[in-house]
Amino acid sequence: MIKVGEYEIREANEDNIWEAVKINEKTLPEHYTFEFYLEVYRNFPEGFLIAWLDGNAVGYIMNRIERGLSHFGFSIVKQGHVVSIAVLPEHRRKGLGTALLQTAIERMKNRGCQEVYLEVRVTNEEAIRVYEKLNFVKVRTIEYYYSDGEDAYVMARKL
Ligand code: ACO
Ligand code: ZN
Repeated sequence: MIKVGEYEIREANEDNIWEAVKINEKTLPEHYTFEFYLEVYRNFPEGFLIAWLDGNAVGYIMNRIERGLSHFGFSIVKQGHVVSIAVLPEHRRKGLGTALLQTAIERMKNRGCQEVYLEVRVTNEEAIRVYEKLNFVKVRTIEYYYSDGEDAYVMARKL
C-alpha cells in the first residue's frame, strides 16, 4: 500500500477490478469489455493499481508487459504498455496520476522491462504534461488512432 496524502494506492484483485471499469466509464471515451480488464490484470497483476479515499475508488492504472520493437532502436525489447490511467475529476491535481504511473513504472522495472510506452490523444494536454514530467517523450504520431478520428502520440521512455 502506498500513501499519497489521504489517498491509498493498492494492487487490484479480481473482485475489485470493476471499480476501475466504473472510473473508466466516467472519465474516458475508450471503454473495454470486462474480459479485457481481467486479461490485463492477469498479465501483470502487480501493475494493476487502484487509488482509494475512505473506501471509495478514485483512480486506476492498468498496464501490460509485452515484447516488441524498441521505441529507441531496432531491437526487440521487453516493455511495459500503459493501457489506461484515469483519476476522477474531483481528485485530480493532487499527485495521484503521477504516483500511479511512478508506482507502475517501478514494478515494470522489477519485471525486467527496458522501456515503457503509451498512446495519448494529441489534445490531451493534462495527461501529456504528467507523462513529460516523468520523462516520457513523443516518439511518433498515429493518425486516426481513436474511433472519432483523433490522432495519438506514442510516448515512451527508457527504464
Ligand atoms: N497540488 C497542486 N497541483 C498538483 C499537486 C498538488 N499537490 N500535485 C500534482 N499537481 C499537479 C501536477 O504538477 C500537474 O500539474 P501541471 O499540469 O500544471 O503540471 C497536475 O497536477 C496533474 O498531476 P497529477 O495530480 O499527478 O495527476 P492527476 O491525478 O490529476 O491525473 C490524469 C492525471 C490521470 C491524466 C487525469 O487528468 C485524468 O484522469 N484525465 C482523464 C483521463 C485521461 O485522460 N487519462 C489518460 C489517457 S491516455 C492513457 O490512458 C495512456
Ligand atoms: Zn495502448
